[in-house]
Amino acid sequence: MADAVERAAALREYAEAVAGCTRCALARGRTQVVFGAGNPDADLMFVGEAPGFHEDQQGVPFVGQAGKLLDRLLAGIGLSRADVYIANTLKCRPPGNRDPLPEEIAACEPHLFRQIELIEPKLVATLGNFATKLLSGRPTGITRVHGQVQEVTLGTRTVLLYPLYHPAAALYTPSMLAVLEEDFARIPALLERAQASPAAASDTEQDAAIEPEADPIQLGLF
Ligand code: URA
Repeated sequence: MADAVERAAALREYAEAVAGCTRCALARGRTQVVFGAGNPDADLMFVGEAPGFHEDQQGVPFVGQAGKLLDRLLAGIGLSRADVYIANTLKCRPPGNRDPLPEEIAACEPHLFRQIELIEPKLVATLGNFATKLLSGRPTGITRVHGQVQEVTLGTRTVLLYPLYHPAAALYTPSMLAVLEEDFARIPALLERAQASPAAASDTEQDAAIEPEADPIQLGLF
């Protein structure tokens, strides 16, 4: 396990390497790669979808309206950006903020997995469908799995995955915002349990209620 200084240096070095990435066509339209931001030593990491206009301009994830809501949700549980690490599924802005394409997700995936490997978070909160499906390895949508803790193995590490609605989706839908706030309120307790022991952070009561959506694959919940 790396200490905080080594971890920050390794992450900075990786960010420098990714700044010139040409693994997919999004490289041609971007202003810059939006690698990620926050505390490299964080136990809690958020993974969103992709940079939008403002993120592409500033090089920082979640600086637009959805980011302001994320800041407010974090403040509501006594945290700030300095306490967590924030990254996206895609590091470059899709034109017109369209959905990420499968080939873009596949091309960018090694960057996210390497970030997770370097940061070694204990709890990974996925924001929306794209991050949730990628990191859970399941096609089940966010409507079904939000608020349900899953244990997932990413590379060589097992982490707790906590799917949440995307703040952008909750911005204009009060009922979704209420659910997102409720799910967010559980983060401190989940984090505490994940910090004590990842395996102890399961949520058997709620998780037992989940059924797969359309596909027959059983969710890897515990
Ligand atoms: N939405 C995202 O998913 N990521 C950002 O960085 C901004 C908006």
